[in-house]
Amino acid sequence: MNILDVIAKKRDNQKLTKEEIEFFVNEYTKGNITDYQAAALVMAIYINGMDDEETVALTIAMANSGEMLDLSMFGKNVVDKHSTGGVGDKISLILLPIIASLDVPVAKMSGRGLGFTGGTIDKIESIPGYNASIDVDEFIENVKKTGISLIGQTMNLAPADKKLYALRDTISCVANISLIASSIMSKKIAAGANKIVLDVTCGSGAFMKTEKEAVILSKKMIELGRLANRETVCVITNMDEPLGYAVGNNLEVIEAIESLNGNMPKDVEEVILELGAYMLKLAGISDNIEKNKEMIIESIQSKKAFNKFKQLVQNQGGDISYVDDISKFEKAKYIIPVTANKAGYIKSLNAEKVGRISGDLGAGRIKKEDKIDETVGIVLVKKVSDKVEKNDILAYIHANDEEKGKQAQIELLNNYEIVEQKVEPQKTIIEIVK
Ligand code: URA
Repeated sequence: MNILDVIAKKRDNQKLTKEEIEFFVNEYTKGNITDYQAAALVMAIYINGMDDEETVALTIAMANSGEMLDLSMFGKNVVDKHSTGGVGDKISLILLPIIASLDVPVAKMSGRGLGFTGGTIDKIESIPGYNASIDVDEFIENVKKTGISLIGQTMNLAPADKKLYALRDTISCVANISLIASSIMSKKIAAGANKIVLDVTCGSGAFMKTEKEAVILSKKMIELGRLANRETVCVITNMDEPLGYAVGNNLEVIEAIESLNGNMPKDVEEVILELGAYMLKLAGISDNIEKNKEMIIESIQSKKAFNKFKQLVQNQGGDISYVDDISKFEKAKYIIPVTANKAGYIKSLNAEKVGRISGDLGAGRIKKEDKIDETVGIVLVKKVSDKVEKNDILAYIHANDEEKGKQAQIELLNNYEIVEQKVEPQKTIIEIVK
């Protein structure tokens, strides 16, 4: 088989066979297909799409491209969660210790930033010393010892997805339903859990811009899960404006720590409660969603979840004095306020633009080898439906380059739509797809 023929076939909008997809995945993983050839094929897939059979073949080939973790030693229901990505999405950092504190084992592999969205691993690495690259034995040992471990895609799990995910990010080929579904489900299948809760984000700051697309993606992932014997539930959540107030790596870790201390933004809390309640249900704790939500609230109020987060950080080499004292986190050189140029109500705050502004400040990557700046980003003060007076502070830009900071200040102000009429708050949980 020849990669040039495979590329040409997809370029000409023909269906690829299972063998052709396996050939591409295996040879690309081994380094026998170049990044530019893979980029050409991915672009052709992005433009011409893949049908269900091709999507299944890509998912299974990527899941089989490395090791398959066996987590059955942790019980008959092992539950995992994943988000399709968003702006200000610090849910995993808060939710995973909550779930572990309720005696449900958490063995979680997370991703890095992609496109205009951030990634949990980039965020947690802003705690000095935190090692997200431990090997599989240590990962399992940590879960046995403390009930939780959070690592990057460093083990040999779905290595094909790891390469393709980073490549897609740098060639503007992320937002495609088949590519996202196979990327997420291949990782989840390889990562060993048999129950999966997916946060399918929807809106301007998500890869799925409409509820209709989010439902299609959800159904596709549920079907991929069914074929691989993984029960999957999707919670469609709003990502029209950023989640919570902080956008940027250590800024989001700070907000996550504050949330675990009981100071949680309302939209973050709604997502935590919904996803968490379904994780507890799939884990076999209780079918009663409302009761599960109460258990989650109790774990935060009692500080059990906060202490579990500290255990996680400590076990993986992180300096927990930062968790105890968030003022220790390094700050950007310039903290620039953005002020309202008129009075009224915030009608919209396009999350993708906020993500891009934060990325331009250095919080994201343009090339896959780029190093991110963990201190930069945006802290919102006002969000959709808030009332503002002229000159009120809308947000703060955290920048290490003054020019970039000033540019971000202008762009963020332009991104706030302020109107005279009262605006209703947005709905956070849109739909549950099972
Ligand atoms: N998250 C993933 O893991 N993969 C994607 O393609 C998009 C979001």
